[in-house]
Amino acid sequence: MAKARAILVLHGPNLNLLGTREPDVYGRSTLAELDRAIERHARSRGVRAECRQSNSEGQLIDWLQAAERQGFAGVVMNPGALTHYSIALRDAVASIRLPVVEVHLSNVHGREEFRRHSVIAPVARGQISGFGAASYLLGIDALLGR
Ligand code: DQA
Repeated sequence: MAKARAILVLHGPNLNLLGTREPDVYGRSTLAELDRAIERHARSRGVRAECRQSNSEGQLIDWLQAAERQGFAGVVMNPGALTHYSIALRDAVASIRLPVVEVHLSNVHGREEFRRHSVIAPVARGQISGFGAASYLLGIDALLGR
């Protein structure tokens, strides 16, 4: 990713509840703590990360469509459950020129059958799953080509 200055980090539905939501699966850190770790990691790599969360499919699509115009060089996205069925979100990822890395806190391939399929992954630059908060940090590094 050339001349990366800013990376957009999108969290999908229910990720606002991190910290209290199924802590055995998603850990005890809050979304605010996760965002701070992401921002700190991005800074250490010489880029800025802007983190946003929405429970709405349409809002995530609007943010993806606007990302290039707003000066972002790539997107790290945890689409939450939308990963598994949102053709609209998939089409948005396929429609933009920016690289999108799909990330998950949990290892979606080791969980229920319905989580093993991602409609986003085929049009994303790649998928990182199962490393907790580090999935996002690895996503940033992947965008930066490290
Ligand atoms: C998740 C995995 C999804 O299956 C789930 O619906 C989420 C979180 C993860 O980060 O592990 O909301 O994307």
